[in-house]
Amino acid sequence: MLQLKEGEKEEILACVKEVLGENSKTHENLIPVLQQVQKKLGYLPVLAMEKIAEGLDVPAADVFGLATFYNQFRLNPPGKHEVKVCLGTACYMTGGDITLESFERRMEIKESETSPDRHYSLERVACVGCCSLAPVVVVDDQVEGKVTPTRVDGIMLELEADRDGPAGEESGPKEGGNSEQD
Ligand code: FES
Repeated sequence: MLQLKEGEKEEILACVKEVLGENSKTHENLIPVLQQVQKKLGYLPVLAMEKIAEGLDVPAADVFGLATFYNQFRLNPPGKHEVKVCLGTACYMTGGDITLESFERRMEIKESETSPDRHYSLERVACVGCCSLAPVVVVDDQVEGKVTPTRVDGIMLELEADRDGPAGEESGPKEGGNSEQD
């Protein structure tokens, strides 16, 4: 579980309070409330789900279960760089799964995860509409076609070059979390 950044706990609590204040506190509003909180925060932190459960008087396990069931909900914060690997039929048939594994190995995270320093997040997506370029990867909304493992290395080098300082510095005091998601 990723640690919260400094000040993020307060931001989450304020966001949940605001959204709950704008909705009637009924069980039926669980999905709209989750959607609104995710829209504001970019994802659904554990702390937010706990507070939503309290606010709507729903068991926390039900909130977690629902959030993990629906693909629309994101449980990890987006990384500074978002990499989406297409696993639609054309991309899968041309090695999209190998591309995904290559990114997982190099980023040291699994799909749907964000690196501890939040520099990367990795997702699998369905067809992005560029099948003639399969296998396709979308890096920060830019489509990359015919991606080979060698190209994965190139993309990783470009993403690594976009750090504020030496590798790992982003997780230092400026962005490193002091509080935990509880
Ligand atoms: S299947 Fe990947 S772009 Fe269509």
